[in-house]
Amino acid sequence: MRKNYVLTDSEYKDICSLVYQNTGIILNEEKRKLAYSRFSRRLKALKLNSFGEYCDIVRAGDKNEMTHFANAITTNLTSFFRESHHFDRLVDDVMPALLKKPSRKIRIWSAGCSTGEEPYSIAIAILKKFPNIAAGWDCKILATDLDSKVLETASQGLYKAQGLDTLDDPEISINWFKKGIIDGVEYAQVLPQVRELIKFKQLNLMNYPWPMQGTFDVIFCRNVVIYFDQVTQKKLFSHFSKVQNIGGYLFIGHSETLKGFDTDYKNTGRTVYIKER
Ligand SMILES: C[S@@+](CC[C@H](N)C(=O)[O-])C[C@H]1O[C@@H](n2cnc3c(N)ncnc32)[C@H](O)[C@@H]1O
Repeated sequence: MRKNYVLTDSEYKDICSLVYQNTGIILNEEKRKLAYSRFSRRLKALKLNSFGEYCDIVRAGDKNEMTHFANAITTNLTSFFRESHHFDRLVDDVMPALLKKPSRKIRIWSAGCSTGEEPYSIAIAILKKFPNIAAGWDCKILATDLDSKVLETASQGLYKAQGLDTLDDPEISINWFKKGIIDGVEYAQVLPQVRELIKFKQLNLMNYPWPMQGTFDVIFCRNVVIYFDQVTQKKLFSHFSKVQNIGGYLFIGHSETLKGFDTDYKNTGRTVYIKER
């Protein structure tokens, strides 16, 4: 039988503050129903009687529960070649500039990669335009997310083929995916040469200092900061700057901006920024 839990105002306040402290994500009154539905599943799984008891477990920092807690509240909407102008900009303008680097090393970070469509789109766009990149260049894409569940999908690179129907260029589905049927449903798996360029890792962007060494020529952090408040966004942009050299690029989502923040980045086209100091 389905149990109906009561979420009091003070319990919701506690949940909001725990979510903010642990993920940077801001919840408001509009998100109350969503939070109720996502977290009541955890109450059920843990056989708890109240949200208060659940908050105590989270507050105690139980490692296993922290993973479920974060996974429960993230929004993972994504798609292949989302905001396609970014991939054109990457291969038409950014990559040709990077291919002048004497080090022959290119590092790209997809921060908040969700189920992997973003880093795979980056890799496909690059391989399509520069098919021999792997031969002469050390080109790697790091793809990270807070949510461990989405990273499982991302690592497999296995998607319902239907998700490719919206692509402007049908050749992408033909040339870069292997198709198969599982339980009567058509699936598409990203080809090994694309997957080889990418390393997936779990990373909470709020946990500074980040463990990565070295700098990134390009950072994609799209449709992630939209869930954060201004203080958290400012801090994140300043940390991105610390892992980029002057001339590094930062791509953000269509409804995000660096305007109003005093950052090291200068706008250089539609939601694309370059580190200038
Ligand atoms: C809406 S998706 C965006 C996916 C992709 N970048 C795109 O634009 O299609 C936002 C992602 O940010 C991740 N995220 C949210 N808070 C995060 C945090 N504190 N650290 C790392 N990733 C986070 C979520 O788990 C989610 O997968």
